[in-house]
Amino acid sequence: MIKFAIGSDHAAFHFKEEIKQYIIGKGYEVEDFGTFNLESVDYSDYGIAVGEAVASGAADMGIVCCGTGIGISISANKVKGVRAALCSEPYSAKMAREHNDANILAMGARVIGIELAKMIVDEWLNAKFQNGRHSRRVKKITDYENNRVS
Ligand code: RB5
Repeated sequence: MIKFAIGSDHAAFHFKEEIKQYIIGKGYEVEDFGTFNLESVDYSDYGIAVGEAVASGAADMGIVCCGTGIGISISANKVKGVRAALCSEPYSAKMAREHNDANILAMGARVIGIELAKMIVDEWLNAKFQNGRHSRRVKKITDYENNRVS
């Protein structure tokens, strides 16, 4: 059973709640790292928290949302081992999984509507990493991150 970590700032609070219920409805386990209301918070805290949950193995994958999806994806990507992909349409979500082995999906609640977001999530869930030449490319990112020459 795949376990998701999910998080957002205030700008994406309602959006995150809907996506959380959508994923739970599909039978996935979800741990919610907040935020839990509309009070203004810093997206960085939530991106890093979800990133750490995924990087540590406490969760298999993550979903992060803020107004644009930009700040929270940048934050999550600072955690070693995270490959967060900001997606505004389903094709990129599919490719992020198949080619980049992305482990966190980022979306912008002020950019896309909730029904499009659900399509993006569906594409993400249905896609699998394709290995092969893509493994070599992802390994170069990981090697750089770990200060190894590849
Ligand atoms: C919050 O106003 C907004 O800056 C944040 O949600 C996000 O869009 C930042 O990248």
